[in-house]
Amino acid sequence: MSALPKLPQTSPDARTAPRPVLRVRGMRADDLDAVMQIESAIYPFPWTRGNFADSLTAGYDAWVFAAAEGAGRELLGYAVVMWIPDEVHLLNLSVAGAMHGRGIGRAMLDWLMRDAWRRGARGMMLEVRPSNQAAIALYRNAGFAQIGVRKRYYPAPHGAREDAWVMFRRLDDE
Ligand SMILES: CC(C)(COP(=O)(O)OP(=O)(O)OC[C@H]1O[C@@H](n2cnc3c(N)ncnc32)[C@H](O)[C@@H]1OP(=O)(O)O)[C@@H](O)C(=O)NCCC(=O)NCCS
Repeated sequence: MSALPKLPQTSPDARTAPRPVLRVRGMRADDLDAVMQIESAIYPFPWTRGNFADSLTAGYDAWVFAAAEGAGRELLGYAVVMWIPDEVHLLNLSVAGAMHGRGIGRAMLDWLMRDAWRRGARGMMLEVRPSNQAAIALYRNAGFAQIGVRKRYYPAPHGAREDAWVMFRRLDDE
C-alpha cells in the first residue's frame, strides 16, 4: 500500500462502541469523491483519484463498505485487491478516520480473505510501513507474517523514503 500511515484517530470510547453491521459492494466511479475524502484525511501520502480510477479500469477488485443500516450511502471503508493468479495482493485497506478502532478494519479484512479464498486464491500478500503499528497489529492478529522487506519503498516526510514490510498469509477455509 502506498500511503504513509497515521495511527488511527481513535477517540477514547471508540473501541467500546459497537461495530456497525457492514454491507459491501463493488466500488464505482461515482464513489470516488467519498473515497478521496477519506483517503486524503487518513494518509499524509494518499493515493490519487487517478490511482483509484486506474484500479477500476484495470479490473482490480475494488470494494466499498458501508453501514447496513442508518447511514445511507456514507462509506466507512474501502479496499483494492489485485489478483496474481492464485494469490491476491491487498493494495489498499482503509477505514474512515472517525470510525477507527471499532473492529471495521478487521471485519473488512476477514471478508476480503474469505471472498478471495472462495474465488480460488490461496494466499494474500500486502506491503505495510513498519511505522504503521495499528496496521501491523491488525495483520499479525489476522495471521499474517512478515516475509520480506522492500527497501525505500514509500515516500516519507522531507523527501525521505521508508521501507515496506511484505506480509503474507496463506488462505484457508477457516
Ligand atoms: C489500519 C486500519 C485499516 C485498521 O482499521 P480499524 O477499523 O481501525 O481497526 P480495528 O478496529 O478493526 O482493529 C483491528 C486490530 O488492529 C489493531 N489496532 C487497531 N487500531 C490500533 C491502534 N491504534 N494501535 C495499535 N493497534 C491497533 C488491533 O490489533 C486491533 O485488533 P484487537 O483490538 O482486536 O486486538 C485503519 O486504522 C486505517 O484505515 N488506517 C489508516 C490507513 C492505513 O494505515 N491502512 C493500512 C495500510 S497498510
